[in-house]
Amino acid sequence: MLQKNTSPKLINSVQKAAELLRSGELVAIPTETVYGLAANAWNEKAIRSIYETKGRPSNNPLIIHIKSQDSLNEIAREIPEIAQRLAAKFWPGPLTLILKKQPTISDTISANYDTVAVRVPNHPLTLELLNAVDFPLVAPSANRSNHISPTKPEHVMKSLGQNSPYILEGGSCEHGLESTIIGFNGDDVILYRQGAIPQEVLESFIGIKIIDFAKQKSQINSPGTSEKHYSPKTKLILTKNIDEFPFNDSSKIGYLTFQRQMSVSGKNVSITLSETGDLEEAATNLYHALHQLDELNLDLIVAEKMPDYGLGNSINDRLMRAAAI
Ligand code: TXA
Ligand code: MG
Repeated sequence: MLQKNTSPKLINSVQKAAELLRSGELVAIPTETVYGLAANAWNEKAIRSIYETKGRPSNNPLIIHIKSQDSLNEIAREIPEIAQRLAAKFWPGPLTLILKKQPTISDTISANYDTVAVRVPNHPLTLELLNAVDFPLVAPSANRSNHISPTKPEHVMKSLGQNSPYILEGGSCEHGLESTIIGFNGDDVILYRQGAIPQEVLESFIGIKIIDFAKQKSQINSPGTSEKHYSPKTKLILTKNIDEFPFNDSSKIGYLTFQRQMSVSGKNVSITLSETGDLEEAATNLYHALHQLDELNLDLIVAEKMPDYGLGNSINDRLMRAAAI
């Protein structure tokens, strides 16, 4: 059922989203992290069209979304005990586990790796949707490959343009930053991507240090760790000291700060991520701020480095990739 007076691509009915997915269509779905571009995980044609719609390289695998931990055995095998404990604690929620895949999982999803990424998302509509269909949903973030992730329906439309599928309207995403991705190698727990759950929180729960993917010794697979990602079209510089980039009349600069409020003049603009210095609020606002700044035809975005703990590390990770050339 289409809403009146809104884009024809927005839908507000879980049943309609379920019908579209059953018939092999893609649907953009809300999650607590970012909007996902979802397809039936058992429909090979639909999975391939995710890669086409995003312009995503076929060697970058996708995350499978399941309705509860009870469905995990359909997706993964030889699940370590520590993975079961993490799932029990953090699902539904922004934690993705990399596990050995069941042979039934398409190589298109896993990009020919023998592992698969899986999580239970925590958004009421998407959980309702997962319960309405009898298949898991495969869903990367609903943006063009390497661009800024979407935390609102309008970001999906802007990023995917005429390729945008129907979007299940679920408001603004609560966390605004993708899930944290964890994998296992023998007794080691590996961090593949910093995200909405800080590394420290996971470490204090499991009681051991998590090894950064980039720093681990053994050779295990490395998809999706490319340097440039999450990028605005506008050039972005990340700095500890924003005063090193004073504005002038000849260029238009957009400043992105953590807590500090800058007084800028002329065509320069500034956005503060959290006036109260709350890292959760900063994470929630990050992508929307980048989308806003990217629309202003600025010469440069100067982003201030966040504190280097907790979610500050996850935000810095995204800003570093946005700044990579
Ligand atoms: O919060 C999220 O995780 C969002 C929402 C929609 O769930 N999804 C998301 O998906 O961020 P995507 O595709 O944008 O990022 C998934 C990441 C990629 O960096 C990919 O390389 C990695 O997960 N990944 C997927 N399968 C993997 C595997 N088998 N081994 C290592 N990394 C994997
Ligand atoms: Mg993504």
